[in-house]
Amino acid sequence: MRKPKPNESIFKTRLSKLLRTKKLGKSIYVFNELDSTQDYANSLPNNESLHGTTVIARKQNMGKGRIGRTWISPEGGLWMSIIIIPDFSLADIIFTQFIGSLAVVDAVFENTKINCKLMWPNDILINGKKVCGILTDVNAENEIKKIVVGIGLNANIESSSINNYLTDVNLKATTLREEYGNDIDLIILIKSILERMEYYYDDFLSSGNTLEIVDRWKEKSDMFGKKAIVYDGNQQVMGEIIDLDQNGALLMKLSDTSIRKIIYYDNVSLH
Ligand code: BTN
Repeated sequence: MRKPKPNESIFKTRLSKLLRTKKLGKSIYVFNELDSTQDYANSLPNNESLHGTTVIARKQNMGKGRIGRTWISPEGGLWMSIIIIPDFSLADIIFTQFIGSLAVVDAVFENTKINCKLMWPNDILINGKKVCGILTDVNAENEIKKIVVGIGLNANIESSSINNYLTDVNLKATTLREEYGNDIDLIILIKSILERMEYYYDDFLSSGNTLEIVDRWKEKSDMFGKKAIVYDGNQQVMGEIIDLDQNGALLMKLSDTSIRKIIYYDNVSLH
């Protein structure tokens, strides 16, 4: 397959000019069209200098969602993947995902004053509908590990273009256009996301403290105290969501009052 060439567009120039980060987004690839920004970022060879490299596509033809799902990615949405060369143990990968989600929640608030809610570990909701999903891939084939954080934010699009294709019947999709009532400047939104992500990442690295991220995550979620069905691997677990521990694992109270810790995530639906 021919490798698509990045489009050195006005988009990239404007974003670079506005961006106030030290590392994230310092190298940016922008494509008018790509199969998947995630695949493109994954295909770049693991290399320390890649830290912060950001791949953006205006439209994806084969966007990837979690658990092998397709991610519908028409023009107008925010489809990007950010490469992190981690300075921490791979056991902490869940935190990269949390950092990505928190950055999106902050950026959406900054630009629209909408308060999004988080659903463990990687969904971002507005009024109970999914507006954004985060996908994390880990490439560990040599001694340099590479994490790719993919952000799919339904920005300036119609939810009808997505809902018709959804396989997750429990969670309907929404878009920023529909919730905010206006289109948002994608460049400003990307700038905010990258800046907030760098803020959380640097803070995490300098303190090594997961509690701050966990606390912030809990503050932004309304899952706690609710009944939910969580897939732990292939096993369906039903119970009340009671807490998130400092390792990012979900704690559920089952009907026999025992506490179950869910580390492996597959799918959650709230009831
Ligand atoms: C999910 O299933 O909730 C995660 C969806 C992640 C979609 C994003 S869009 C940018 C990046 N490229 C992809 O192909 N997928 C991720």
